Amino acid sequence: MNPARHVAIIMDGNGRWAERRGLPRLYGHERGADAVRRTVTAARKLGLQALTLYAFSEQNWGRPSVEVHHLMSLMRAYLRREREELQRNGVRLRLIGDRGRLPPEVLRELDATLAATAGNTAMVLTLAVSYGGREDIVQATRRIAAAALAGKIAPDAIDEGSVAAALTTHDLPPVDLVVRTSGEQRLSNFLLWEAAYAELHFTPLLWPDFGEEPLRAALESYNQRQRRFGLVGQAG
Ligand code: FPP
Repeated sequence: MNPARHVAIIMDGNGRWAERRGLPRLYGHERGADAVRRTVTAARKLGLQALTLYAFSEQNWGRPSVEVHHLMSLMRAYLRREREELQRNGVRLRLIGDRGRLPPEVLRELDATLAATAGNTAMVLTLAVSYGGREDIVQATRRIAAAALAGKIAPDAIDEGSVAAALTTHDLPPVDLVVRTSGEQRLSNFLLWEAAYAELHFTPLLWPDFGEEPLRAALESYNQRQRRFGLVGQAG
């Protein structure tokens, strides 16, 4: 089995982590941001080429506004604080999702970090913010339909490659492994197209408890699997 190049993580369980300690949910998100920092450093150390984190789903806009606001300010703080660390580690930041819905102060820090890290090549860190897998497939479909209408592509020529190229993840390596914390076993609208052949790893750990060792364990379990991509497995 080739080592995993691209790991995508559904960071779940911040609220429960806090509630179990009798603390406000917001505190769980803060510890969740610490886990993001640890996990990015670990991913780089373990040699991943790409790490994609589901930081805020399109559906998360429906949470109470105080929580939405807190998550946005945590993201803003993260983007500002980690800029130099990402730089030092050769990590390039990417964003997938509907940036038009993000508050201007988050966009400002985001654009500064995107620009500062644009030339880095050791690993790409993609934050999925205001992201939905179905929404991304819908925007890809619109782009392809517009190209067809403009006579740039014939409907019969549309294939998997054209769809993949129109998704916002088009420049990332294939997703090898999707990890979800907190014991839930769902994709929750994350990388629906991209995860078609990914291995799935579920851990009961809550996101604030995630870090290097749990990531290492997820990669070890990945290494022990045999991916067949719909074909027949090799003997032995
Ligand atoms: C799920 O926990 C987590 C989120 C909705 C957001 C993830 C956000 C962070 C880790 C912090 C900020 C992000 C960055 C990039 C610095 P939940 O609230 O759904 O937990 P629950 O299911 O236990 O309620």
